Amino acid sequence: MSQSLKVNAAGHLEIGQCDTVMLASEFGTPLYVMDEDMMRSRMQEYRREMAQQLPTGIVAYAGKAFLTTAMCRLVASEGLWLDVVSGGELYTAVTAGFPTARILFHGNNKTDDELMLGLEAGVGRFVVDNFRELERLAELARKKHVRPGVLLRVAPGVTGHTHQYIQTGQVDSKFGFPLVEGVHGLWAAVARTLASESLALRGLHSHIGSQINELEPFAREASALMQTMVEIRRRFGVVLPELDVGGGLGSRYSKEDNPPAIGAYIEAIAAAVTAVARQYEYPLPMVIVEPGRSIVAEAGITLYTIGAKKVIPDVRTYLAVDGGMGDNPRPALYHATYQAVVANKANAKATEIVTIAGKHCESGDILIWDAELAPTEPGDVLAVLSTGAYNYSMASNYNRVPRPAVVFVHGGEAELVVRRESYADIVRNDVIPARLESRAAAGGLARP
Ligand code: LLP
Repeated sequence: MSQSLKVNAAGHLEIGQCDTVMLASEFGTPLYVMDEDMMRSRMQEYRREMAQQLPTGIVAYAGKAFLTTAMCRLVASEGLWLDVVSGGELYTAVTAGFPTARILFHGNNKTDDELMLGLEAGVGRFVVDNFRELERLAELARKKHVRPGVLLRVAPGVTGHTHQYIQTGQVDSKFGFPLVEGVHGLWAAVARTLASESLALRGLHSHIGSQINELEPFAREASALMQTMVEIRRRFGVVLPELDVGGGLGSRYSKEDNPPAIGAYIEAIAAAVTAVARQYEYPLPMVIVEPGRSIVAEAGITLYTIGAKKVIPDVRTYLAVDGGMGDNPRPALYHATYQAVVANKANAKATEIVTIAGKHCESGDILIWDAELAPTEPGDVLAVLSTGAYNYSMASNYNRVPRPAVVFVHGGEAELVVRRESYADIVRNDVIPARLESRAAAGGLARP
């Protein structure tokens, strides 16, 4: 159990000194609960380690892991930068009043509208992914008489051990410029950016994957990027001052996960960058890291109400909850594993093995296979742990199930940061064309 979770005198699970059973009854279920202090302490740890080991370095929180306007405020107040990857994330940050000069704008297919939104907001860096984006950004910036800072995304040919769908650094990837000669490769992109009067080339970026629980791939990546900067100096005579190694540090979902500490992660990157810089007498660049998961995953839990139980003698027992793949698609997508606790019986011994099923209409909607749980009854509250990253942000309305609310807890107080969707929200953007209206009327369909 993570450090922020406790069991109180009533035998209930507590997060941020709030009783989860009370949270479930006050805000309803399913409910995402995020421990604000834990998120803050992770952000502080990243900044502290960076300040000690790479004093000019920058920590940018990767908003794709979990982003709301309140989260933007939290990130801003901790002095981090923010990585956004779409017009929607950028709009969220701008709405929250996030300082836009501290925003990095990612994405492998930014539209003109998104690029304009970024230029108008004055984002600090565009992380340019491909030649099309390079041309469009140069043109739009020229028309606006601005010169945005650019990092070029490289596919460095380095990967970490993780699920294939969340690997990104390999050569065969949709992301970034490949390290090849000729018109399709990075060197051509560098030449094009340097030749542009409306783009300011600041450095390189790469991201090798997510939920990586070893240090060696990060060191290889940082070293490969540094050597690419050295090669750019040899070919073009320019010393690029910034190097962004992306995110990817793993989090603990179950006992088997043993991710390195944040300090060890920064140390591995610092050592790799420093070694290449020394070897080639290259000035130490400003290093950027973009952690998402490792800041929010373990700070979050999801509360559900337990409903139906299906016992198939000698086969399996299914325990159904009032959410599922709509609020957590990760088990179905990546075979991700989670742990759960019966929140109102947190001290009771786990004596049953049950498979936690969601309420969505497919057999793959399983949150946890073979969970060890205390004996349950309908109405009990189930807490699934370490759901803070890529759960809310990947939630859907599959089966027209409204998405849950999100609360932040801090020192015994719980505050809503995202309201629960209502059925009215579900039909809010639906439109009935006039011809269907009239046919419905002629056919005598009941109207609500
Ligand atoms: N920077 C870039 C450019 C990225 O693409 C990502 C994640 C990050 C930073 C943050 O990585 P983190 O520190 O969170 O590992 N939906 C998947 C994860 C996809 C990650 C995509 N990129 C999941 O649920 O596991």
